[in-house]
Amino acid sequence: MLTAARNEMLTRVGPGTPMGELLRRYWQPVAGASEFDANPIKTIRLLGEDLVLYKDLRGRYGLVDRHCPHRRADLSYGWVEENGIRCSYHGWLVDQTGRCLEQPYEDTASPKPSKAGCDAKAYPVKECAGLLFAYLGPLPAPQLPVWEPFTWANGFREIVLADIPCNWFQCQENSIDPVHFEWMHDNWGSRLRGGDANAAPKHLKLKFEEFEHGFIYKRVREGQSEQDRYWTVGRVALWPNGFYLGSHFEWRVPVDDENTLSVAWFFMRVPKDREPYMQERVPTWVSPIKDENGRWISSHVINQDIAAWAGQGRIADRTKENLRSSDIGITMMRNRFFQEIDAVAAGKEPAGIIRSANAAQCIALPNMAREFNTEGIALADFDKDPILRQRLKEFRHHYGQPPAVRRAFVEAMGIAG
Ligand code: FES
Ligand SMILES: [Fe+2]
Repeated sequence: MLTAARNEMLTRVGPGTPMGELLRRYWQPVAGASEFDANPIKTIRLLGEDLVLYKDLRGRYGLVDRHCPHRRADLSYGWVEENGIRCSYHGWLVDQTGRCLEQPYEDTASPKPSKAGCDAKAYPVKECAGLLFAYLGPLPAPQLPVWEPFTWANGFREIVLADIPCNWFQCQENSIDPVHFEWMHDNWGSRLRGGDANAAPKHLKLKFEEFEHGFIYKRVREGQSEQDRYWTVGRVALWPNGFYLGSHFEWRVPVDDENTLSVAWFFMRVPKDREPYMQERVPTWVSPIKDENGRWISSHVINQDIAAWAGQGRIADRTKENLRSSDIGITMMRNRFFQEIDAVAAGKEPAGIIRSANAAQCIALPNMAREFNTEGIALADFDKDPILRQRLKEFRHHYGQPPAVRRAFVEAMGIAG
């Protein structure tokens, strides 16, 4: 249980709030690069700030204030040019550094060399593994961590976005919550498919550890032992707002205090006989979260999670909760956030910031599926693993995979559609 004041501290993300200041120290994934193939301008709301993300005609990304520096028209209704984005109201042109380059009427009627004072707020953007990351903190920006899976070859990757109407922190608490797999995904999932109730293997033992990139949770369930990788390797709650499960990442990106963008990046190694496989573009798609009756879609794994997160309320009231031993990891995580908030307030660099380019190049994380992802297996062997067999059949993580993405996946894997 937390006091209302501590809950506020964990959940408020706008400029100047303690958590907002902490989260601004980290690169945040905000979009898929392939989204900009069809439309070079996307509105972004991030940490309570309204922005536009655009790709100029030279292929450079810019993330600038959504409101034009002239009289605050919406730049998302502008257009991109060689050197930036132009406002459709009076034609001012702003580049990716926020510099105002042109003011057409002034430049004609009363030209002045300097446009000082007319710059827009702008933030750096970087592309990695098909994702676009933004950094809203003080400069110089730290290195963008290149997690090892971003460097893997011979894989089919896809990015799935979902707009979730609740605060990011309750989503991130799910990254360190092993017991929910048994109930939410196994028992509830089984009921939804008309199967046995409450028959999933029970959790017998949990362990939570901290490491330099977050937390690891380990578990033993009925039928497993301490030799199992669920115990010897475990899964990663990636600091500060990610979740890493061996073949995919999920980030809970704060839009504002009451909304979160779920950004998930998936990797599926192609069968050995399909190598070498080179993916031209990483597809990005948006997963719907509600059905036609306004209820949460519950057929897919992350959709089930979303039903839990959003069901906790726009901002979960942590003054009314009852934490028990299954929640030890959650308490560890909250305490770490409180400590890092204090560190930033004291002018210190918070945990997990990487300043050395070398150190950021290929960061290994605990991974239960390392051999499969880095060495690959033959197609015939997919059948021997129930998870891989299922993964070939359908995309179970998010509802609504577009047929074109399924077709590309089937083609990459060399399987029948
Ligand atoms: S408001 Fe954008 S150019 Fe005038
Ligand atoms: Fe889950």
